[in-house]
Amino acid sequence: MKKILVLFSHPKFEKSRANNILVDQIKDKEGVTFHDLYEAYPDFHIDVDAEKELLNKHDIIIWHHPFYWYSCPPLMKQWIDMVLEFDWAYGPNGVALKGKTCLNVITTGGSRELYCSQGTNSFSVNEFLRPFEQTANLCGMTYFPPFAIMGTHLLSDAALEEHAIQYSNLIDLLKNEITLSKFNGCAFLNDIPQLKTL
Ligand SMILES: Cc1cc2nc3c(=O)[nH]c(=O)nc-3n(C[C@H](O)[C@H](O)[C@H](O)COP(=O)(O)O)c2cc1C
Repeated sequence: MKKILVLFSHPKFEKSRANNILVDQIKDKEGVTFHDLYEAYPDFHIDVDAEKELLNKHDIIIWHHPFYWYSCPPLMKQWIDMVLEFDWAYGPNGVALKGKTCLNVITTGGSRELYCSQGTNSFSVNEFLRPFEQTANLCGMTYFPPFAIMGTHLLSDAALEEHAIQYSNLIDLLKNEITLSKFNGCAFLNDIPQLKTL
């Protein structure tokens, strides 16, 4: 069974509605290490060695965060900047993450139809996530499409609970080694047939 590290980053988790519901479903699952970065590092002083050790122990890395200004909250970026060091994560001897899997789990205020060339946000979520995708690529990781809960302000608690159950089901699929070929070209993991039929 694959081991999953959820790197969670939310500057105002105490005020969160969507991520509170999502996190509740997955944080205590077997095979999942839930790591709340803002709780661990309120002063932004990341323990790089401890983070590397955590990464070494896991096969699948999830960057879980609300979408803030088309990207991640600052502590998640700080984590990327500090932890993914040259010659460890990338570079001639940087093979520590090679062969692992990586993906973003995000919540967005904007709904999915706003994220296209004709929509208010002009670009797709997948386009906005390109820096994460390429970061994973550079580190030799396989980058999966995102799992995205979009239009959160319009979703009822019951609808968010449904998404949370899907997130939990996705974690079960990931633990059991879902492969890229099973995505059928889906831009979002939310749309893969295995989750739709659950
Ligand atoms: C500082 C800030 C920036 C945000 N930027 C975006 C954005 O770029 N795109 C978007 O769709 N929503 C944006 N939002 C909305 C959040 O993504 C949304 O409120 C959050 O995902 C809901 O999750 P929560 O209830 O757990 O906080 C932003 C919210 C804040 C506070």
